[in-house]
Amino acid sequence: WAVAAPYVAAINRLKQERNAVILAHNYMTPDIYHGVADVVGDSLALAIEATKVKADVIVQCGVHFMAETSKILSPEKTVLMPDMEAGCSLAESITAEGIAEMRARYPGAAVVSYVNTTAEVKAASDICCTSANAAQIVGAMEGDTVIMTPDKYLAQNVAKQVPHKRVVWWDGRCIVHERFTPQDLRDFRSWHPDLKIIAHPECPPDVVAEADFAGSTAGILEWVGRERPAQAMLVTECSMASNISDAHPEVDFLGPCNMCPYMKKITLEKILWSLHSMTGAVEVDPAIAADARRSVERMIALSQ
Ligand code: 13P
Ligand code: SF4
Repeated sequence: WAVAAPYVAAINRLKQERNAVILAHNYMTPDIYHGVADVVGDSLALAIEATKVKADVIVQCGVHFMAETSKILSPEKTVLMPDMEAGCSLAESITAEGIAEMRARYPGAAVVSYVNTTAEVKAASDICCTSANAAQIVGAMEGDTVIMTPDKYLAQNVAKQVPHKRVVWWDGRCIVHERFTPQDLRDFRSWHPDLKIIAHPECPPDVVAEADFAGSTAGILEWVGRERPAQAMLVTECSMASNISDAHPEVDFLGPCNMCPYMKKITLEKILWSLHSMTGAVEVDPAIAADARRSVERMIALSQ
């Protein structure tokens, strides 16, 4: 903290000077999450917040698709990305051509794209979803067949929750969540029989099947707050447990540490530089942004 403190103080000072807010995803490191963030949350909460913030500047502490979503929803604001290289394996797995390919393969089927996609992909889709509302959105689509892109594991997990739909998917995966195996979960349970296991639905279905609960990062936090298990394993990005351990001293967090290399590109130094220099502004072609906004706003309307 001694190293972080001067950065935290300088960032918080600059935020006031620039009339800026910091929107931070739950996977940010604790120095960002606790030290400088104004709003923390899952992808859905951050997208909704981007429609409401009053500031002139949003600093997006998360990955690039999150900053694009904020810009799409608040085009009049400056949205800064502290490191443009903070991508996402899911967002990189599909393009607008991939959406056209799926539409040709399943004519007439609605396309539900995860928010972990580029603005072009959102624009080419009928609606977006996050891990918090995916089953609700897919269930609300017309027609028997629903195309879900790009996360095949999220699609397979959602398919079980909406058995009246035929869910088909693209072959994208999250490089963090695909690393967990059912055997990892069984091993930890055998070592700690009272352990509660909570998984993110980007994990493969055989991993989710071994868990006590699956949900978005906000859903995971809510579950831990409500159930207050003596021991918990969060089958998701490693910073989550660190970020909430202060608020839950009664919970012993166990498990392997899988980090997202993209999320970890965001550091206090880079946040300070982006606010100081006002560089790293995210731009979205207005024609694409209009169609992408329709997909995101449709999702937000259906989620409330
Ligand atoms: P959440 O919407 O659950 O926060 O997930 C975002 C993400 O990138 C998880 O890997
Ligand atoms: Fe993308 Fe996975 Fe990282 Fe989330 S954890 S940003 S889905 S690579």
